Amino acid sequence: MSRTPIVVGNWKLHKGIADALALATEVKNQLSALRDVEVGIAPVFTALHAVGKRLDGCPVALVAQDCFWQEQGAWTGEVAPSLLADVGCRYVIVGHSERRQHFGELDAAVGLKARAVLAAGLAPILCVGETDRERDANETFARLRAQLAGALADVPAADAERIVVAYEPVWAIGTGRSATPAQAQEVHAFLRAELRDRFGDVAAKMRLQYGGSVKPENAAELLSMPDIDGALVGGAALEAAKFVAIARAARRA
Ligand code: PGA
Repeated sequence: MSRTPIVVGNWKLHKGIADALALATEVKNQLSALRDVEVGIAPVFTALHAVGKRLDGCPVALVAQDCFWQEQGAWTGEVAPSLLADVGCRYVIVGHSERRQHFGELDAAVGLKARAVLAAGLAPILCVGETDRERDANETFARLRAQLAGALADVPAADAERIVVAYEPVWAIGTGRSATPAQAQEVHAFLRAELRDRFGDVAAKMRLQYGGSVKPENAAELLSMPDIDGALVGGAALEAAKFVAIARAARRA
């Protein structure tokens, strides 16, 4: 089953409009011609419009870091998926561990967001991952199963192919300590089996990203694993040279 790898840079809370445009331009110039890999960048909300215009007509996808699940109304401070579509986003990250950890996002809320993203015609990048405490307590698979169940309840199989699942072990995010390729592959194979139970054969077409301290030095080995179909990159995505190297490493022979 051939799946087009997808590499996304999650810029988190970094880079105002001028810096975001500079980095987006480098990514565009260096990666627009890259074949067989889908590339995306996720600037802060306030830079989405400017970066979206810069990427117009280029294959690099505009990605949002989060969204709300309601379309409109008295929800001060929130942004709806249709508004993200309006500025040119193709993907929306939902359930990032920083949202879960620092903003109290629960599995059910992540599910509402994922369904709202799909309803707006966009594709969710659904983040799941265990903490080091959960890994040490042998709860990794139970935690991932619960995260998938919460996020994918009521999602029809017809929508499944659009969903990207990002496995991001919390202990590997921003720590410099990536999962080993074998550790990551074990979890990715588990996730694909869970997705197969839920959605059937379409699970073979779904793309599963690894995230957590991905860098040029470890990208090729991680991305060579059979169930790892791309990367969600934080820190290394803030430097064009590193992000470009990671995206190139995702090219499959
Ligand atoms: P990192 O972040 O690459 O800096 O570990 C990954 C992420 O949070 O998506």
